[in-house]
Amino acid sequence: MERRREVFGGRSAAIFALAGSAIGLGNIWRFPYMVGQTGGAAFIIIYLVCCLLLSLPIFLAEVIIGHRTHAGTFGALEQLAPGTKWKWLGLLTVISPLIILSYYSVVGGWSIGYLWQSVTVGFHSSELGAVSSAFGGFISSATGPLICHTLFLAGCAVIVSAGVKSGIERFNKISMPLLFVLIVAIMVYSLTLPGASAGVEYLVKPDFSKITPSAVADAMGQSFFSLSLGVGTILTYASYIKKNENILVTGLGTVGFDLLFALIAGFAIMPAVFAAGIEPGAGPGLIFETLPYIFAKMGANVPWLSSVVAVLFFVTIVFAAFTSAISMFEVGVAYLVEQRRMSRRKAVLLIFGGTWLLGALCSLSFGPLADVQLFGLSIFSFCDMLTSNFLMTFGGLLFVLFVGWKMDPAAVRDEFTCGGTERFNCAVFGAFRFLLRYIAPIAIVIIFITNFLA
Ligand code: PFF
Repeated sequence: MERRREVFGGRSAAIFALAGSAIGLGNIWRFPYMVGQTGGAAFIIIYLVCCLLLSLPIFLAEVIIGHRTHAGTFGALEQLAPGTKWKWLGLLTVISPLIILSYYSVVGGWSIGYLWQSVTVGFHSSELGAVSSAFGGFISSATGPLICHTLFLAGCAVIVSAGVKSGIERFNKISMPLLFVLIVAIMVYSLTLPGASAGVEYLVKPDFSKITPSAVADAMGQSFFSLSLGVGTILTYASYIKKNENILVTGLGTVGFDLLFALIAGFAIMPAVFAAGIEPGAGPGLIFETLPYIFAKMGANVPWLSSVVAVLFFVTIVFAAFTSAISMFEVGVAYLVEQRRMSRRKAVLLIFGGTWLLGALCSLSFGPLADVQLFGLSIFSFCDMLTSNFLMTFGGLLFVLFVGWKMDPAAVRDEFTCGGTERFNCAVFGAFRFLLRYIAPIAIVIIFITNFLA
């Protein structure tokens, strides 16, 4: 049975892993459609503010807890606040990422389905209505999406069962740079499409009348989702970072990469949306409806180029989804291995089984189970709403409160400043603590309540 804890190989491995968790469907699939639904450039501005004032402190709070204790989320809180109610936060953050993983795997599966189509038959219909109904038809069928969901989750299980260093670290080190190159290439292509400039304008010219309480809450939710916050994944990965790492650099590096990636994805998708004359507020189907249409249009002129771009694009999405999904998977595995004394292999199988089942229900909720409603939502939407609107916000809030008010300030300082050796970190520690204790929790509560009452 495995007992010795593994660690990531160094700073770049840690940043790649954390950025791997952060960069995913949230950046490529969710960010563009949220921008489209919530008003373009104005949303992006609020999003940037949320990332810096709210997400960065939560991110660092999770890193501090994980790095300090070198334990998974449940064990970490038990270690720092033994015998207190904080252990429930530990438990919540074991469960939340597994709920997210279940429906995330369904969207990861759709990406595998579209990758398969781009490799085999390609996309030929440049009739927008037909492209949309093909997407609707695919996700509402029972078997195709279920097979894809199973493949996606099985892929995660294989990577996670290989362990932290040879599985997760190696996969991230190869896929993250590849991902970056691919999305930049797609952005460059998209920007050259006729009519793309309207999309660029949409992303850079803010309309401040669009800033409503719900837009602010959406921006906050999106920034938490995108940075994998409030659900213990960052905490768990941080527990594998070597002792003497500068966590501020790691945190800023990860948040910076994630932001950059979301913006590049926005500039890759939106110009294409406008070039195609598609409604930017089309919702979760945006990339699955827009891009096949674009690929088909492109294919009418240069068929080989269209096939190459389509395959590259869906490879990008599948890779990005994998690097995030394995981080959620790992949270559950770390809990079972460390707290329940299970072997890694058994833990992987158990997590696979549980998330497969919930994911299957989410997948079927687009078709055979469409009538099953929870609080007026389909199973898929309910899981998404429960996690991104409530559990992540609640978890993020509790993490900043824990590090800001409960954890020993000397230990927090020690972690933040690398034992007092980093001069810059020492200089900004006061500001960080203020953000952690006051700004972030108060702002999160205000945004949450205002949106709730609106
Ligand atoms: N940050 C991931 C993305 O942007 O796709 C999603 C995610 C990963 C959410 C891990 C939550 C999590 F624990």
